[in-house]
Amino acid sequence: MKLRYLGRSGLRVSRICLGTMTFGMEGWGCDQDEATKITNAFIESGGNFIDTADMYSAGVSEEMLGTALTGHSRDDLVLATKCWFRMKPTANAKGLSRKHICEALEASLRRLGTDYIDLYQVHGPDPFTPMEETMRALDDLVRAGKVRYIGCSNYFAWQMVKANSISAQLNTERFISGQHMYNLLRRDVEREILPACVDQGMGMLCWSPLAGGMLCGKYDAEAGPEKDSRVGLRSAIDLPRYWRDESFSIIRKVVEIAEETDRTPSQVALGWLLQQPGVTAVIAGARTQQQIESSLIAGEWDVTDEKVEQLSNVVPFDEGYPRDWINTTFSNIE
Ligand SMILES: NC(=O)c1ccc[n+]([C@@H]2O[C@H](COP(=O)([O-])OP(=O)(O)OC[C@H]3O[C@@H](n4cnc5c(N)ncnc54)[C@H](OP(=O)(O)O)[C@@H]3O)[C@@H](O)[C@H]2O)c1
Repeated sequence: MKLRYLGRSGLRVSRICLGTMTFGMEGWGCDQDEATKITNAFIESGGNFIDTADMYSAGVSEEMLGTALTGHSRDDLVLATKCWFRMKPTANAKGLSRKHICEALEASLRRLGTDYIDLYQVHGPDPFTPMEETMRALDDLVRAGKVRYIGCSNYFAWQMVKANSISAQLNTERFISGQHMYNLLRRDVEREILPACVDQGMGMLCWSPLAGGMLCGKYDAEAGPEKDSRVGLRSAIDLPRYWRDESFSIIRKVVEIAEETDRTPSQVALGWLLQQPGVTAVIAGARTQQQIESSLIAGEWDVTDEKVEQLSNVVPFDEGYPRDWINTTFSNIE
């Protein structure tokens, strides 16, 4: 398994991160037995980086991961979790206030059965809490030895830059990573967020790198998703997110390249992401041990530049304004 430094930090992580959102998830997830097998297979292959969140299956993912990690060396792992989602119907059980961050962290430590988190991430931006309060609270957790590094998820580019600027003013810990949706079907981050991560020395961690399984080529464009499939069960979220005519042209190319290179579509789709500048790791999700074992091959195998370009060009990415203005006028100041 190839390792990379996470952003401009000294933390080395496997370029495949194990995503555990399936652990305990009813319908499209897995039980403790399979979660343990998935985790063992991941660690045995050399993976050290594991991502969860307090809200995944309302805390059950963290509990199942804690159980799965019994017998593994805690210090050899890089454990990442997140806070932000509402965990109870009470006034402060959500968001990024000092009060909620401290309580959420303690609850995650209890569920995971550990006394520190390597990468503590804010799951989304909180428009109601001053960023100064959030960054100070996160810094306090690092000073207290409960957290090693901090990161963010689902932030706009300007929010990441603002948060790190506040940290510079306060002389507190800064974000070393951004966790965002990035896959061949949704490349939105290429416009602003990925360049901001590179500028800020933050590693990009890609969530839903297989577009929830669509990039594995198992969905039929004409027939639509079967009701009990993952996309069928999550149709309200996943259909508007991924199910577009152009998606199936991209998926066909992924399958074609997989056949040409004697790989699986999931390995090709993960491999494309891992060649994008600024990307540190892909957070691969799995419902079965067999699925994670397939994805783990992408931790070693590199997609060639030629194939990366072919995949990128199936549907030319619209970089939008002001990139198109800069592309047409930049020669004026050269
Ligand atoms: N920060 C955030 O807001 C956020 C949001 C979402 C996810 N995440 C993180 O990202 C991780 C991954 O997300 P994701 O589960 O959406 O990722 P994904 O990698 O896009 O999708 C994983 C799903 O694809 C299918 N799959 C995986 N390997 C396969 C294979 N070899 N063959 C066929 N199907 C395969 C499985 O679903 P089926 O078998 O059921 O089809 C599996 O559950 C999560 O666990 C979580 O850690 C973060």
